[in-house]
Formats: sequence, structure tokens, C-alpha cells
Amino acid sequence: RSLSTLSPPVPKFDTVACVGLGLMGHGIAQVSAQANFKVVAFEQEQRFLDAGRSRIEGSLGKMLKREKISQEQYDGIMNGITYTTDFADLASSDLVVEAVIENMDLKKQLWGELNNVCKPDAIFASNTSSLSITEMADVSGRPDRFVGVHFFNPVQLMKLTEVIRTVHTHPEVFDACHSWVGDIKKVAVSCNDTPGFIVNRLLVPSLTQACLMLDRKDATIKDIDLSMQLGAGHPMGPLHLADYIGLDTIHSIIAGWVEKYPDEPAFEMPKCLKERFDNGDLGRKTGKGFYHWG
Ligand code: CAA
Repeated sequence: RSLSTLSPPVPKFDTVACVGLGLMGHGIAQVSAQANFKVVAFEQEQRFLDAGRSRIEGSLGKMLKREKISQEQYDGIMNGITYTTDFADLASSDLVVEAVIENMDLKKQLWGELNNVCKPDAIFASNTSSLSITEMADVSGRPDRFVGVHFFNPVQLMKLTEVIRTVHTHPEVFDACHSWVGDIKKVAVSCNDTPGFIVNRLLVPSLTQACLMLDRKDATIKDIDLSMQLGAGHPMGPLHLADYIGLDTIHSIIAGWVEKYPDEPAFEMPKCLKERFDNGDLGRKTGKGFYHWG
């Protein structure tokens, strides 16, 4: 299929499918529903679907309590989301956003299955934070209709979304996704498919530099964090933020990069990060990381 014969070039975005309702996926489903898109929220297992739904209820509950939304809006947003464990329910989605765990084999398999079930003009988007969009696009059956849309945690509060193009992404597909990001009230930036895109390419090495500082015993956890908060104006210090993001996520990003780009000096695995990861101390989600979480 040649790019100029895409027909119709881009569907009107009406229904958005969110595949994976974890930390990121539930937020993407929520902000899409808040912007009046019909949302189909998918998880493979009922218990993960229920957990995702509770997360959305919790977040909307906070907004309701603080009078950022009315009860009527709360009900409207919740009613705009259909929850399912059945792939067939994704068939008529216009945009499919994937936010499952960062495992390339799993993602590739998923895109193959989605390509079979989704309508031919549906656009596919991955929320991966550090894996290659091109590798996924190559197995998606529709590389010209494939982009990255990378959100930040917590999705409900963070204003940025990176929109990532590969060499195969059709310009109209890219523009449609870029403007969808605006529709869901996020600020879109564009980037080519490169390791970590813009934010993580800068952020992750800065977090690992903080860890390496700890490895060298140059300063304490508390003082490193306080320094970046009060000396650089960051809302959270780097080790606090690492715990917040999840040490498994940081570990997986840096391990992948060290393997794939062994000559890049900015990519280095800190000992204190690896040890905590090996012990299962993954930060806020497990109650312990660089800090103890109540
Ligand atoms: N849903 C709805 N409302 C929420 C919410 C949620 N999930 N979480 C918090 N809120 C509300 C709170 O109730 C609060 O409401 P009020 O203002 O009415 O009191 C408001 O939002 C602010 O909440 P907090 O007081 O907890 O927020 P804060 O001012 O302390 O800021 C923060 C929290 C936005 C997380 C801020 O600390 C921050 O920006 N931290 C850095 C986060 C960051 O860097 N994220 C990127 C991580 S990297 C990433 O995600 C990419 C990757 O691929 C690894």
C-alpha cells in the first residue's frame, strides 16, 4: 500500500481504545473520557480490569471531592468508558493506545492480534517510555498508521505528551495524533523515534547520575533530593522521583539501553539501583525503595 493511497487517510477520532489499565493506562483512559471521547478500556484479566476501574474512580473521586468536577460530570465520564476483557470490543476503535508492561515480545504479539481485530484505518499508538516504536510498527501490519504517544506519571496532572514518529509514519496520521493530544488537554511535543525520546533521554540519565552519586557516597539521599528541589526548582528530588516512577521501570529502561547502546557513556547501571531492584524494593508501589513509604 503506498502512502498516497491511504483511504480514508485518517478516521475521525471518536472512539479511543486503551489497552492496559495500569499506572499509565488508567490515566490515559480517564483523560480521554474527560475530553468526551468514547473510551473502550481493555485488560486481559478481569482482576486487572477491576483494578484499573477502581483507579479511575479514585482519581475522579478526588476531583469530585475538590469540586473540580460535578457529580453529573463524574457520572458522564464514568459512563463514557466501556470496560472489557474481550478483544472483539476494540474492533471499531479509531485510535488504539497501548500501555501494557514494557516487554517488547509481549507488545509485538499484542500489536499482531490488534491488527487482526481492529478496523483497517484505525491508528495505533504505543505509550512505551523507552522501547523502539519502529520495532513495534514493523510488526503491526500498518507501519504508516503507527506512532508513539508518551504520557507522564501521574497522567491526570502532567501536562506533556510526546508524539513520536518513525520514518514510516504517514504525516497525516502524525498530525491527527498530535491534535488529539491537544483535544485531551495535553501539550504535545514532537520527536523522532530515538531512545527515551526527549524527556526520558534527559531525565533517566539524571536519575541514574543521582544513584551513582549515592554509590560513590558523595552525598546522602536526603541531601541529593533537597539539592535538586531547592537548588534547581524541581518539584521532587531525583531519588524521590525514582521511587515515584518505580525502580523496576528505571531499571528496565537503563538495562535495555546499556545492552543496546554499550558505547553511550550516559547509560550506566548504578549499583544501588540494581541492588534494590534485585531485592524487590521497587519504590512507592512496594513500600520501600530509596525511602520507606507509608
Ligand atoms: N487524579 C486526580 N487528581 C489528583 C491526582 C490524580 N491521580 N493526584 C493528585 N491529584 C490532585 C490532588 O488531590 C491535589 O488537588 P488540590 O490541588 O485540589 O489539593 C492536586 O492534584 C495536586 O496534588 P498534590 O498536592 O499531591 O500535588 P503536588 O503539588 O505535590 O504535585 C506532582 C504532585 C504533580 C506529582 C509533582 O510532585 C510533580 O510534578 N512531580 C514530578 C512528577 C514527574 O516528574 N513525573 C514524570 C515522571 S517520568 C514519567 O512518567 C515518564 C516515564 O516514562 C518514566
